Amino acid sequence: MTTAQTPSHDHILILDFGSQVTQLIARRLRESGVYCEIWPFNQADEKRIKAFNPRGIILSGGPRSILEKDAPVAPKIVFEMNVPVFGICYGQQIMVQQLGGRVESAHSREFGRAYVDVLKPSEITAGIWKKGAHEQVWMSHGDHVASLPDGFEVIAKSDGAPFAFIADKKRRFYGVQFHPEVVHTLRGRELLKNFTHNVCGCKGDWTMASFRAEQIEKIRKQVGKNKVICGLSGGVDSSVTAVLIHEAIGDRLTCIYVDTGLMREGESEQVVDLFRNHYNIPLIHEDACEQFLHALAGVDEPERKRKIIGSLFIDVFDACSTRAGGAKFLAQGTLYPDVIESVSFTGGPSDTIKSHHNVGGLPEDMKLELVEPMRELFKDEVRVLGRELGMPEDFIRRHPFPGPGLAIRIPGEITEDKLEILRKADTIYLDEIEKAGLYDEIWQAFAVLLPVKTVGVMGDTRTYEYVCALRAVTSTDGMTADYYPFEHEFLGRTATRIINEVHGINRVVYDITSKPPGTIEWE
Ligand code: XMP
Repeated sequence: MTTAQTPSHDHILILDFGSQVTQLIARRLRESGVYCEIWPFNQADEKRIKAFNPRGIILSGGPRSILEKDAPVAPKIVFEMNVPVFGICYGQQIMVQQLGGRVESAHSREFGRAYVDVLKPSEITAGIWKKGAHEQVWMSHGDHVASLPDGFEVIAKSDGAPFAFIADKKRRFYGVQFHPEVVHTLRGRELLKNFTHNVCGCKGDWTMASFRAEQIEKIRKQVGKNKVICGLSGGVDSSVTAVLIHEAIGDRLTCIYVDTGLMREGESEQVVDLFRNHYNIPLIHEDACEQFLHALAGVDEPERKRKIIGSLFIDVFDACSTRAGGAKFLAQGTLYPDVIESVSFTGGPSDTIKSHHNVGGLPEDMKLELVEPMRELFKDEVRVLGRELGMPEDFIRRHPFPGPGLAIRIPGEITEDKLEILRKADTIYLDEIEKAGLYDEIWQAFAVLLPVKTVGVMGDTRTYEYVCALRAVTSTDGMTADYYPFEHEFLGRTATRIINEVHGINRVVYDITSKPPGTIEWE
C-alpha cells in the first residue's frame, strides 16, 4: 500500500476501524466515479496520509467502544489537514471525542431500521433530505454522542440518537450515527455522493474507460520489453487480466491454461476458443487430465485432495512457463478484497490477507515479478472492465468456480465416471436456471455428486444409483451466503430432468444450508 495509484483523479481516504461494512463505503464511492482506498486506522500515519493527498477522509464504523481504554482513534493529522472529514458511527464518535465533545453509553441500543427527523439543511443533505422530513436510516450502535465539540450543530436526530447527524460547516466535518453505506439507509448512496462531490469537490471522473487507459500505460511501463505469462483458470478475473495485458503488450503475453480434467462440460473448449481463436493470444493449452486423475486415485480426504491438486498444478504450470521461454513477469487476477489489510481486534494478525486457498497460488521460487492490474478493483468492477474490453457477456457474468474444480464437488474418491455423471447433472441444472432467467440473481449454483447410492424404481426396474445434491446461493462476496429460495416447481422439474437424462443418478436433493454454518462448496 503506497500513495494513490491514480494521481490524475481525486481520491478519498477511508480509514477502517474494523466495521463489517467498510468495503461498502468504498463501493458506493466508486459507483459515483470517485477513486478511494481503505487503510487500517493503525497503519495510517501523518506522512502517508499527506503523501496520499486525499480530497476528503471518511472514518468508518467499528466494533469497539470509544469509551474503552485504548480504544482506537484517528491520527491527529486527519483533523488538521483542512480537508473535509465524514465520520460514520464509530467514526462519528471518534471525531466528537477527539475534538472535545463527549460520547456516552446509550440507555437503549439501536440496531436496524430507524428514522431520523431532519432539523436543518446541510451540504450533505442538500437535494436529498428536506428540513422537517422523517427519513429511514440503518443504525447499529450502543454508544452515542452526548455533547458536541465547539463549532458543531445537529442536522438530524432519531429517538435513540439525539445527535444522529452533526456538522461543523466551517471546518467541513460531518458525522452520522447511522450507516449511509448500507442499502437500508434509503438515500445513503446520495448522501455519500454529496459528501464527495459537493463537500470535497470530487469530479467523479474515475470511470472504467479511464482505468483501462491508465492501467495499459502502467503495464507497459512496468513490463518494458519483457515477456509475461498469465495462468487462465476459466474464470472472470484471470480472463479479464489476460485481455487487458494483451491490449497493453500484445504477443509478449503468453497465457497458460492447465486442463486439470476437473472442469465443467465444455469449459476448457470455451477457454481455448476465446483466447486462441477469438483474441489470438498465444496460449499453451496443457492437457493434464490423466496426471490429475492418477494423482487423485484413491484419495478421499478433502484437504489431501486440495493439496495434491495444488502442488501438481504448480509443477505443470512451472513446466509450461519454462516452455513459454524467458518470462520475467507473472500476471495475476488479484482483486482489491484480497489485498485490503483487514483490521482485527480478535488477536489475529492485523494484516491478514484473505487468500482463498487458491490452486493458482504459485511458488515464490519461480522468481517472477507480479503484474496485478486489478488489485484496485472489486469483483463487480472487474465485470464492468470486461465489458469495457468487449469480452463476451456469457464469460463476464459467470459464477465463480473454485480452483480445485469438480474435485471438491464429489465428496470421496474421484473417478472419471463420477466426473462424467456430475458434468451432465450440472449442465442440466444450469440450463434450467438460465431458462428460468435466474442465473444473474444467484452467486453460485452447482450440482454435487454424493458418494451415496440409494434405491429407486424406473419403469419396472429397481435402480441403485447415486444421489445428486443441488446447491444455489446468494452472496455478495462469498464470505457469507444464503441458500436460494427456488420455487418447488422449478426444483421438481430440474430433478425430473436430471434423473431421466443422467444415467447414474436416481435421487436429487436440494441443499438449504446457509454460510455460516455451512460453506458454499461441500469440501
Ligand atoms: P466456501 O466453500 O469456502 O467457498 O464457502 C467460498 C467461495 O470460494 C470458492 N472456493 C475456492 N476458490 N480455490 C478457489 O479459487 C479454492 O480452493 C476454493 N474453495 C472454495 C467457492 O467456490 C466460493 O465461491
